[in-house]
Amino acid sequence: MSDGLEDVVAAHTVMSDVDGAAGRLIIRGRSLDDLAGRATFEEVTRLLWDGFFDHLPADLAGPLAAARAEVFAEVSAMDTGILALSPIEAMRALTARLSDGDDLATALRLLAAPAVFTAAVVRGQAGEAPIAPDTSLGHAADILRMLGKAPNQAESEALDTYLVTVSDHGLNASTFAARVVASTRAGLGSAVLAGISALKGPLHGGAPGPIIDMLDGIGGAENARPWIEAALARGDRLMGFGHRVYRVRDPRADALKGAIRRMGTRAGRLEFAEAVERAVLEILKAHKPDRSLDTNVEFYTALLLEALAFPPSAFTCVFAMGRTAGWIAHAREQLAGGRLIRPQSVYVGPTPRAAA
Ligand code: ACO
Repeated sequence: MSDGLEDVVAAHTVMSDVDGAAGRLIIRGRSLDDLAGRATFEEVTRLLWDGFFDHLPADLAGPLAAARAEVFAEVSAMDTGILALSPIEAMRALTARLSDGDDLATALRLLAAPAVFTAAVVRGQAGEAPIAPDTSLGHAADILRMLGKAPNQAESEALDTYLVTVSDHGLNASTFAARVVASTRAGLGSAVLAGISALKGPLHGGAPGPIIDMLDGIGGAENARPWIEAALARGDRLMGFGHRVYRVRDPRADALKGAIRRMGTRAGRLEFAEAVERAVLEILKAHKPDRSLDTNVEFYTALLLEALAFPPSAFTCVFAMGRTAGWIAHAREQLAGGRLIRPQSVYVGPTPRAAA
């Protein structure tokens, strides 16, 4: 048995390759450097879904915008009970109301869902009315607009870069969960809901919110070392550091840092975060000398989404907006060739007593 299924191969995939030793990510034959900041989220979704849907349009921007408008009709189901949940729970509850299926129309609605529902939930929790999608805009720009912002081009491009950067990443926990559900032929909606549920945990996509708490708790670069040392002495994990596969720096960290720099705002906050990052890496090296713990995607995710004025409680929802493209691609790939996923367990409980 492999603890945490480490090093177990559970799928052959054409979607993405995570090279943990070299710190490289390939998405459908293209390097992350070639896609982040250069291709739109709609183009990368098209790349991921290519060959896995019949009659996939050459350009997904229009169909995805139309799906946003369709999904917005479901925002009316948002009652006070849903608004009392955390944003990720509220977004999941609203997504669960969409019909299941395996076709392209279902896939597009599921891709639009986290964007439309998160914007409506964030506004609803602030006592504001939802804003309907603008189907003339690209997905990233419209997400910011549905949140009530008037985004400039640099902000829209930064969010687009983020969505592309997190669109797919090998057989991570949420993608594996989505593939397990897809293998039962339950439908894409069920697979996406499994993905959202796995993503929510703090060891996976729930890490970036607490990173803002860490930065706020540290307050100034001079407090970084004592704060970090005290956290480790308590046995806490430092969010945004360490990875199951990467033994070097996660390449997505620098893709996102570049996007923050291109926005040209909050230079002081970035400088402070870089000082905290340096201190964490130095201390972790001494704390765990036998384990290579480096910066993962979540550290600069937190800074980027903070700069775009998303509330930290909704950061995981924004991750889901990007990763849903990958979950759907993997679910379709699983359906196309994979068997039911059903591993074995070793029973270590008591045996029944023999009858007297
Ligand atoms: N801070 C402090 N110690 C850490 C950290 C960390 N961030 N990460 C790992 N360690 C320590 C563990 O405590 C463990 O120590 P032990 O052997 O004394 O118990 C050792 O390093 C190995 O940890 P594992 O949990 O076995 O490593 P694994 O590969 O399973 O964990 C994980 C990967 C879950 C990401 C881990 O590094 C972690 O918890 N990081 C913080 C949370 C985080 O940033 N998650 C986002 C990951 S990226 C993503 O999912 C999108």
